[in-house]
Amino acid sequence: MDITEVILHQHMEQRRMFALLEEWPRDDTEGLAALWKRLAVLLETHAEGEEKFFYPQLLHVGTGGGDADDVDEETEDAVKDHNEIRDGVRKVSGSAVGSDEWWQAVTDCDAANSDHMAEEERQDLTDFRRHASLEERHELARKFLRYEAVNAAQGVTPVDKDPKEWLEQHQS
Ligand SMILES: [Fe+2]
Ligand SMILES: [Fe+2]
Repeated sequence: MDITEVILHQHMEQRRMFALLEEWPRDDTEGLAALWKRLAVLLETHAEGEEKFFYPQLLHVGTGGGDADDVDEETEDAVKDHNEIRDGVRKVSGSAVGSDEWWQAVTDCDAANSDHMAEEERQDLTDFRRHASLEERHELARKFLRYEAVNAAQGVTPVDKDPKEWLEQHQS
């Protein structure tokens, strides 16, 4: 197990689930609602799990990956992006399934999530692979997957974080 591989794999799952929604029969609102619920749980437990287990450790070992200025900037940016994804999830969940408003919210959520995943893969995962030991990557994968599995049925209550405050709390 490796946290960077687990995150990468789940990003592919998220992309696939958005694609599934896009090709789903538009009159099957029960199916659309069920597919969306699974995706919403995955998006929320994934982001929360990253904030609980991945980003605090990245802050300790990272130096800034890819085109990031430094580890503080890439981490703060990820927490901000997670808030935007939560906003997107809330907007979809608050709209009537299958309505024009719902589809627009799904597209907006997909766009916010896609932008974030690309940056996270390019900066944060790269940074962690370069600086964390294999044991550490294994141990974090176990904690992350456990957290997601425990919360898979009910999901987690989405909580926005102030990116600057979050950073300060986890820097020491
Ligand atoms: Fe992610
Ligand atoms: Fe993320």
